[in-house]
This record gives sequence, structure tokens and C-alpha cells, in this order.
Amino acid sequence: MIDRRLEFIQNLESFLLKQNADWAGPLQFEEPPATDQTQNFDLAIPCFSLSKIRKEAPQKCAENISSQLMEVTIKEKLGIELTAVVKGFLNIRFSADILAKSALERIEEPLRSSAKALAKEKIVIDYSSPNIAKPFGIGHLRSTNIGGALCRILTSLGAQVIRINHLGDWGTQFGKMITAYKRFGSAEFVRGDPVNNLYKLYVEFHEREKDDPALLDEAREWFVKLEKGDPEALELWKWFKDVSYHEFKRLYDRLGVDFDYVTGESFYNQLMEKTAERLETAKLLKKSEGAMIVDLEEFGMPPVLIRKSDGSTLYATRDLATAEYRAKTFSPTKIVYVVGGEQTLHFRQVFKVLEMLGYDWAKNCVHVGFGLIKFPEGKMSTRKGNIVLLEQVLDQSEKEALKIVQEKNKEKPEERRLTENEEFDIARAVGTGAVIFFDLHAKRTKDILFNWKDILNFEGDSGPYLQYTHVRLESLIERAKNEGIKFDDKTPLSLEVPEERELIRRLLGFPAMVEAAAREFEPSMISHELLDIAASFNRFYMNVSILKGEEKYKASRIQLVRFTQRVMQTGLGLLGIECPKKM
Ligand code: ARG
Repeated sequence: MIDRRLEFIQNLESFLLKQNADWAGPLQFEEPPATDQTQNFDLAIPCFSLSKIRKEAPQKCAENISSQLMEVTIKEKLGIELTAVVKGFLNIRFSADILAKSALERIEEPLRSSAKALAKEKIVIDYSSPNIAKPFGIGHLRSTNIGGALCRILTSLGAQVIRINHLGDWGTQFGKMITAYKRFGSAEFVRGDPVNNLYKLYVEFHEREKDDPALLDEAREWFVKLEKGDPEALELWKWFKDVSYHEFKRLYDRLGVDFDYVTGESFYNQLMEKTAERLETAKLLKKSEGAMIVDLEEFGMPPVLIRKSDGSTLYATRDLATAEYRAKTFSPTKIVYVVGGEQTLHFRQVFKVLEMLGYDWAKNCVHVGFGLIKFPEGKMSTRKGNIVLLEQVLDQSEKEALKIVQEKNKEKPEERRLTENEEFDIARAVGTGAVIFFDLHAKRTKDILFNWKDILNFEGDSGPYLQYTHVRLESLIERAKNEGIKFDDKTPLSLEVPEERELIRRLLGFPAMVEAAAREFEPSMISHELLDIAASFNRFYMNVSILKGEEKYKASRIQLVRFTQRVMQTGLGLLGIECPKKM
């Protein structure tokens, strides 16, 4: 894909538009058809619509423009090396100099040209947001990884990003937790393995509640007490929260994810009354079976429950207060919610009610949904009350990665063999990177099937494959330096071989892809681009002699390797994947 904003493309476009005043831009630019690949062209312009305006046959039209472009001064000014006319298409090859210059501007200082693209944006991102006193499930992994990547992507484009972890730390389930703890738990039991044991109590509550309906009443009472600020209830709740976050933090550190605010649902309690009042004033509240609702029938949606008959508030009430708070506190240009697709209706309802309240910023609220991670039935041994634990997945991934790293290490010549510590470090980076890449490789709205073989495949479309490609790039650069090859920003690129040209074109397209990923809130666009770049690089690496080739090409080819390395490092970094030095 040729990025229209590349300076030399824009120059060409304005030249052509000036020559053909009747031609309403923008022009169509395409990849040259594969058959022309041997001739190494960068761009094809279909001349069919233009030929109608110029009242010429398409072939003739392409030929005429071609001879215009090939006039010596014009050719030089536009950085064109050669043109060719094929079946009404005008193919263009740019000079290596202009591609190299462009690469320096766009790549060498990663994404410099794009660094201001979102400078006016201030974006609140609500992501990860697990529920306390419950194990961090693989489902929240997606929110964490997608959200984390989006934060990095948007920041790299100059946006001001406010990262919020909207912990699930409020709601009727805490009435249940407290009841369960008081009835059949103990401080000792919880301290033994806090999150898992709290969750066990919660599961036990649900088992017992079937035969003992009084439990539910008790739980309801505890939650009402909690909402009223009862000291005992508050103290227990706070303790549950602290021990939970302590464990979540460990996972965030492993995944390289961070937040500016960890303000869970409970934070918005004191604001809820005002929100309810505003709903009341706007005449949006309706009584229904003792509860308060907002009717959304005219919008084809079920009603939103604002307050239960016992007076307690709900998830949606808290989200309304939360959105008001964020709009007021940060005045953001967007409020983004990275939450599973199963909550699509919830967010449509919440955004609709905000609109009904008359907030014009309601249109800036975006739900970035995503599909499920599915496990082949029975294959996952880490199930506990149906939650697949992220920590165990990461541990297992590292373990599998270590096996592979050790095996590969044995095959290495003595002098290049890794130490045991290096093996562990690499396994950690590869194991985590593999899980992150797996999570971010598919279009986010798709469900994905968990499969160790794909996740850790060093040769396939996987995190380890990209990390390995990066190691190869770095070691080529290292070897070139050791061999005394001199290369720097002034090194001219030769680009005589099609593989070289294909690679540089791909690299030049990378910044546009990052911007597209930001626009669509779709980190997988970057994952795919990196796989394509790796494939282009590997074709170049297999077919072109880099360090063993002709002397006069060495510096140019290493400079191309360096561009590739920079893009790969930037891209993996945006996804949150570490680049190990060796593998
Ligand atoms: N804790 C919720 C859950 O696990 C996700 C919260 C998402 N954020 C929000 N503002 N509703 O389902």
C-alpha cells in the first residue's frame, strides 16, 4: 500500500493534477500488477477515467503522460527513475535516493512524520477493569492487551492519553462475598491464597444458596450496609480489594501495562445521587415494579435499571456517573471503553441515556468491543470454576518457550551458546510475547481459539517468529559493524533487486498503518503489517547476499536492514512485546 502522504507521491500527484486541469483529484494509485514485478516498479496509475477526460485511448493517454514525466527536469524534480506503460496503466519507478530520503524521515526516527497526527486529541481509555476478589481471567487479558496497545499507539501519534482501570469493586456481589466470608471463611484462609480463596468462598456461596435462600437476604443486607458506609462492611471490602489488586499488579508488570488512575466503580459512589437527580430532573426516570428505570423502548432497547427496589444502584448507574465524571474532569475528545463484545448492549444503553441527558459529548463515547478467547473443550487443565487463569497461561507459555529455547541452544556452536540465565530471560520475553501477540493478531471482534501450537510456533505467524526476525536483524547489523562496514544516514540505497524495493516500500507504509490502527482502534493491523514486513525481509534475506555479496552493495543493504530493525522494534514495542537481544 502506497501512503498518499509520502512527499514524493504528493509531488507527483500535484504535478499530474496541474497538467490535467479537468481531472478532479485525488488520483488513483495502485500497487503495480505482479507481472511487472520483475521490472521493479513502485506504483501504477490506471489511466481509464483520465483517458475519457483527455479524449484519448487509455494506452495512448498513459504513453503521453509517461513522456511528460520522462522529460529530464521533471523526472529529476519528481524523483522518477523510469516509467512503463502496460495495458492502460502507467507504471512508475522512483529513484532509490528519494525512497531512501523518505525512509530516513519516516523510519529512522520512528514515526517522526506521524508524531503529531493526533496532537489535538485527549483520549480517556477505560481498559483491563477486572473484578476484584475474582481471579484475573483470560477474558480480561484481551481488554488489557488491546487497551495497553491502543494507549501506546495513540500516544505515539501525539495524543494525550488518560489510562483508567475501572475495577469492578462495587455491586451486590460484595454483599455475597462478605456473607460468604463471615459464614464459612476466615482471615487465615483468605491470607493463604487471597484471590483464589476469596473466589472459592464466592463459588461456595452460590452452591449453598440453592438450599439456603436466607443467604441471599443476608447478602442483600450486607450490600445495603456497604452502600451506607457500615464500618465493618467497608473494612472487609477494602481488604478484599487490596489483596486483589496486589495480585493484579503482578500481572500488569508481567504484561508491561500501566494506568494513570485505578478508580473502580466504588469511586463513583458519592456521585451517583447527583446522577439520579439529573435523570429525575430530565424526567427520564420511571417507576417499574418498585425499581427505577429509564425506558428505551423507542430506541428498540430494553430499559436501563437505575435503582433496585431496595435502593441499591447498579452497574449501569455507576457507568453513567463515571462518564459524567470523566467528561467533566478531563474534557476529553474521546472516551473509549475496551470491554468485551458481550457488553455491547450495555454501552449502547449507557451512551443513549447520556445523549438523552443532553450531553453533546455523548457522541464521543466509543465502545471498543472484542471477541472471546475460546478453549478447545477439555484441553485446558487450568480451569477453576470456569475461569481460565491468566497467570497460569503465562507460566505455561514461559515453560514451553524455555523448552524450545533450551533445545535450540543445544544445537548452537559452543562459542554462541546461551547461559542458563539468558535462557530464562529469553523464555520469559518469548513466553509473554507469544501470548500477547496471539491475543493481538486477530481482528479484535473475532473470537479466537486458544492453541499452544500456533502461539509458540517459531516459524509461523507468531510473536516468537517476529522476535526471532528482530534478533536476526540486530545480529546482521552487529556483524556488519564487526566487519568494518561503514553505513550511516548518508549511505545511498541501491535497490537494484526487487526484494530490496519491495521491502523499502513496505517499511514506508508502516506509519500510515499505525495511524489506521489508531483510527479503527485495531492493534491487529500492526500485527499483520509486522508479519508482512517480516515476510518481505525474509525474502530479501534468503535471496540477496547481504554480507557475502558484492562489496559495493554491502553498506546499502545493511542500511536497509537497519530501517527494518527500527520498524520491527517500534511495532513490537507498540504491541507491548519485548525484543530479546538473542534467541
Ligand atoms: N468490570 C467489568 C467486567 O469485568 C468491566 C468494566 C468495564 N468498564 C466500564 N466502564 N464498564 O465486566
